[in-house]
Amino acid sequence: MKKEDLFGAFTKAFGAGGDPRAYFSPGRVNLIGEHVDYNGGPVFPCALTLGTWVVARKRADRVLRMASGNFPLVKEIPLDNLKYLPADDWTNYPKGVLSVMAGKGHRVGGMDLYFHGDLPNGAGLSSSASIELATAVAADDLFGLAVDRVSLVRYSQEAENKFVGVNCGIMDQFAIGMGKKDHAVFLDCATLQYEHVPLALGTAKVVIANTNKRRELADSKYNERRGECEEAAKLMKVKHLVELSPAAFAKRKSQLGSEILLKRARHVVSEIDRTKRAVAVLKAGDLKAFGKLMNESHESLRDDYEVTGKELDSLAAAAWAVGGVLGSRMTGAGFGGCTVSLVEEAAVEAFTREVGERYTAETGLKADFYVAGIGNGTGRRA
Ligand code: GLA
Repeated sequence: MKKEDLFGAFTKAFGAGGDPRAYFSPGRVNLIGEHVDYNGGPVFPCALTLGTWVVARKRADRVLRMASGNFPLVKEIPLDNLKYLPADDWTNYPKGVLSVMAGKGHRVGGMDLYFHGDLPNGAGLSSSASIELATAVAADDLFGLAVDRVSLVRYSQEAENKFVGVNCGIMDQFAIGMGKKDHAVFLDCATLQYEHVPLALGTAKVVIANTNKRRELADSKYNERRGECEEAAKLMKVKHLVELSPAAFAKRKSQLGSEILLKRARHVVSEIDRTKRAVAVLKAGDLKAFGKLMNESHESLRDDYEVTGKELDSLAAAAWAVGGVLGSRMTGAGFGGCTVSLVEEAAVEAFTREVGERYTAETGLKADFYVAGIGNGTGRRA
């Protein structure tokens, strides 16, 4: 949707007047470093040019009105009684963020918020974190709070953890709040130290393929994996699995006692190592080596972490068989969602055709493909 149309849709929903402002908040794709953020490891995501727009206007009272161009639900609720309700659907994300901000003592007043997004829903490109940061940045700007960006990122994660009840790590909110055009964010999730690394991909493109499989039970399985990591860390007497180098892990893995915990921890330890190596080879301009590490990441998520499933495995395997593909892996939480691939520009068309056909033949589903634009983090755009 164009910016002028967004303001038009806002006025239609909430009436004219005041000083409505537009903000854009991206989605994210993670290039490597999967299921390591909550283990204190490094991740390497980037912000997309696909995302969520919000047009926001201050109100004189303490009422919150929310509408969206994507969903029929319209909500008008008192700002001082924000509760999670399953029936409130996507509006729980803005409610969660505003409730966390109020809890931290920030003086946010009533607002009219009109959202419009172009991220595929439930595809694992973080549409929820995109809405959270859109809300946090709009509220911060409209009420002149001047909260630093990393705190807004943390508030958004807290909204997801405590208000919505998904025990996610910091990666999605950080990538979305702190992303930079044509760069990936190399983030140490233990210290929040980060570096913007140029995505110098030469003639290669980042291609996202959506399985279009509904992510069933994804939240409960996600929380289960997180629990397994915590148990493994406890048995190996470390606070987080990041403290174990591959060599230290190999020496101490007998402490784990169960095959499942061994596999989960082995994924985390090896993925942390792969992510560090991947960033180093990318900086050295070795895209082939980067792609190979992406493939190994997928195999580890498939065999040891067990979060891929038939659809993601089919997309990845099909991609590995196409010429001009440097690497391909699942991205995000898994259990459905998307793969991310590095594909030579000249091969992108053959990639979408061949991978699409093979995927449909194997699963009966139709995949969608996007050549990802890598954009800036959340901010005011009008
Ligand atoms: C989801 C979570 C993130 C991260 C990824 C897996 O996207 O929100 O915090 O754990 O899964 O890497």
